[in-house]
Amino acid sequence: MSKENTRIINELHIYEKKVLKALEKSRQSITPEDIVQSQNLDIKSVMSAAGSLASKGLVKVQKDMEEILSLSPDGEAFARDGLPERKLLEILYLQKNIPMKDIGQETGLNPKDVKIGVGWLVRKKWAKIDQGMVKITILGEESHKTPQIDEKLLHMILEQGEISSINLEEELQNGLKLLKSRKGLINFDKITNHTISITKKGQELLDEGIIIQEEATQLTHHHLKTRKWKNLTYRGYDVQAEYPEFHPGKMHPLRRIMDEIRNIFLNMGFTESRGPILESAFWNFDCLFQPQDHAAREMQDTFYIKNPSTSWLPGEELVDKVKKVHEDGAQTGSEGWCYNWDKDVARQSVLRTHTTCVSARFLKENPPPLKMFSIGRVFRRETITYKHLPEFNQVEGIVAADEVNFRNLLGILKEFYKKLGFEVRFRPAYFPYTYLSTECEIYLEEKESWIELGGAGMFRPEVLEPLGVTTPVAAFGLGIERLAMIELGIKDIRMLYKSDIGWLRKLPLKKGINLD
Ligand code: DAH
Repeated sequence: MSKENTRIINELHIYEKKVLKALEKSRQSITPEDIVQSQNLDIKSVMSAAGSLASKGLVKVQKDMEEILSLSPDGEAFARDGLPERKLLEILYLQKNIPMKDIGQETGLNPKDVKIGVGWLVRKKWAKIDQGMVKITILGEESHKTPQIDEKLLHMILEQGEISSINLEEELQNGLKLLKSRKGLINFDKITNHTISITKKGQELLDEGIIIQEEATQLTHHHLKTRKWKNLTYRGYDVQAEYPEFHPGKMHPLRRIMDEIRNIFLNMGFTESRGPILESAFWNFDCLFQPQDHAAREMQDTFYIKNPSTSWLPGEELVDKVKKVHEDGAQTGSEGWCYNWDKDVARQSVLRTHTTCVSARFLKENPPPLKMFSIGRVFRRETITYKHLPEFNQVEGIVAADEVNFRNLLGILKEFYKKLGFEVRFRPAYFPYTYLSTECEIYLEEKESWIELGGAGMFRPEVLEPLGVTTPVAAFGLGIERLAMIELGIKDIRMLYKSDIGWLRKLPLKKGINLD
């Protein structure tokens, strides 16, 4: 026996050996069903064993398509009562000519069948239509008593229930063509028949002799107790074996990353807060010392709401203080913006353009020392591109206490990004509500460039004084989608909102994430 053949035989699964044995006995093509019978296997096992033998070149599996014909309810009615054109012909045979308009009445057929029937009378050349009259032809006269091929086939199917299209005589094949051209009479079920035959290489193995030895797939308590395990043959594990794909439910990656961010801040001792998405310009802009003619407030950047077009302002005291700070700087030592502050502008309803308003609201209600963060959706009038969306998420945070300074702020941000696996750098920046101010950037290797992820700074006295805060406040606001793009390796931000099930399935579940 050749070494190669011995190796192949040894590696055969017991089902593969059984399929080969079944072919040995019959010596010609057999069906999987035959093997099911002779080897006492189930059909799935036979098919998979045959498939794997075929891939090794030991058997050939031939597939033949077969069409099984059966009648639809309409088809069955026609097979019993006759096709509409047959019914028309019977009456036409007696009357020879019938005016087109009277044909329904004369035959008692419904309008739909009259239409079909007349069409087929003409198509089969059993009648002609001439000046509004339906007239029988010679072929019509001749066909009067003889069923045609399509009708014969219809009857055959009615009698036999269903028939296979493969063995139809040629004449009936033509009948089938006719019936196929009428919609909804016949049901076609396609089935695939398999036949399995041995190849030369397979025959070589059979000639060398294949011994079938039952293999144990599991070691049981019984095997151990009775010491039977000593004599059993065990099948080795095939770690390369194919396995069915499995797609358990999992969290959307953006949601997962937001939860990851939430956990980082919770672990750093921050409290979580929330604020409304529909905000007043007052909280979104004014109390952040953003002047009323600031570019960010323009319609091109901010979504203003029609209904409700105005929102409640907080109590008079705070409103007056904010007005004063804008107009002349109040007690802050600043000159303010030197204009007349307008309450109506502050009342306007907007979709919040950042989450910094949540921090302002929180400071109004909670005395320092405090550490607060919030995660939420913000809105800007951006044209949608691969890196811009009109709706996205930010994580915002503040730390307020007597000893807090700008360096602490940079430390917190460094720590946060480090926990997410990024190294961050800081650039000087400007925001109306902070001084000092900075922008955080992380390095993107594949682009060989730094990308901007958010802003941060120490809230200005013009923000803090009206809110009644006397300690320094370090604040930051960071975009989430861009981080997600980098982490997930996607080039288009829209992917995050696309529900592309193929992509979502392939994404790994990240380790260490709390899924409940
Ligand atoms: N609100 C800014 C934005 O949306 C980000 C920001 C900058 C938030 C500085 C802050 C801050 O809290 O201090 O781009």
